[in-house]
Amino acid sequence: MQIKYSPGRTRTSDRVVNSHLLYQLSYRGIFNPSVNYNSVDYHSRVAYYYDMKTITFNEKFIKALKNTKRVAVLTGAGVSAESGVPTFRGADGIWKKYNPMELATFEAFNANPKLVWEWYNYRREIIRNIKPNPGHYALVEMSKIFDDFTLITQNVDGLHRLAGSPTVYELHGNIHRNRCLDCGKFDYTEEFDQLPPICDCGGRLRPDVVWFGEILPKEVLDKSMASATHAELFFTIGTSGAVQPAASLPVIAKQNGALVVEINLEPSEISYICDIKYYGKSGEILPQIVAKTKELKDLHKEKGK
Ligand SMILES: NC(=O)c1ccc[n+]([C@@H]2O[C@H](COP(=O)([O-])OP(=O)(O)OC[C@H]3O[C@@H](n4cnc5c(N)ncnc54)[C@H](O)[C@@H]3O)[C@@H](O)[C@H]2O)c1
Ligand SMILES: [Zn+2]
Repeated sequence: MQIKYSPGRTRTSDRVVNSHLLYQLSYRGIFNPSVNYNSVDYHSRVAYYYDMKTITFNEKFIKALKNTKRVAVLTGAGVSAESGVPTFRGADGIWKKYNPMELATFEAFNANPKLVWEWYNYRREIIRNIKPNPGHYALVEMSKIFDDFTLITQNVDGLHRLAGSPTVYELHGNIHRNRCLDCGKFDYTEEFDQLPPICDCGGRLRPDVVWFGEILPKEVLDKSMASATHAELFFTIGTSGAVQPAASLPVIAKQNGALVVEINLEPSEISYICDIKYYGKSGEILPQIVAKTKELKDLHKEKGK
């Protein structure tokens, strides 16, 4: 068991935030004074510090964090759960309330485009007001720490980009983007007067997400596969490992010699191939991994901290 629980600590609202605390947060890589955190609820960051589970690092992982140059990460809906985006599976999964086959297939769209659009508008509404969480920000930090870093996501919510991750391979598209079924043009309108919305060319617009039974964008998938193949260290985070071909990326990494690390609330369908497993919230675990890597690589010292 790699996770130790910190003994009962009180929430931030009961505390006075002082400079010592800011220093601690800064040192742990959770708060960086040079970063503008206007978009983030500052107090939730501090609360994380107090309620966080403390993880431990074994020798193999320490060695990898210190020496690895090529890192690839696959994220799933779990990474956005702490921002308030419901996952598909798991206790509060969307699929408990809706049947995906009625909503997230091309056949469903063809049969009832208005219903499918209403469902996507509902999901956009949920996503519109949410912010990235410390897990997303930790992955931005990781992109700066490792020489060759690839972030691959199954999420369609755009939160990795909003957090500041420079390059994101979105395997399943983006819920904020629409695409014309006839001319293929992209469109970024968020609200429509009529459903289904119609493109200037007269064709129907659809959400530019990959539905069940559809093929993933080829270039994005090819690049993701190449990164998984070349990775020395591969993280699979907040994904149930139930959706293909995304779930095969950690397997490809493993087959090509990578150390595979899983972060999830509970074991997933691909846990069996993972070398290191952390069961807890990604928003709590990732910032600790970033802080540890910075410590191992002496990055705090270099930045004069
Ligand atoms: N945010 C989004 O964009 C979003 C939301 C729901 C579903 N999806 C779609 O779901 C499909 C793939 O499924 P998936 O594997 O990404 O998600 P999933 O819903 O199948 O599984 C989510 C996983 O995250 C874990 N989890 C939940 N909260 C967590 C937390 N705080 N920290 C770490 N792990 C946590 C759960 O245990 C579960 O294994 C894709 O098609 C994707 O496009 C995307
Ligand atoms: Zn068109």
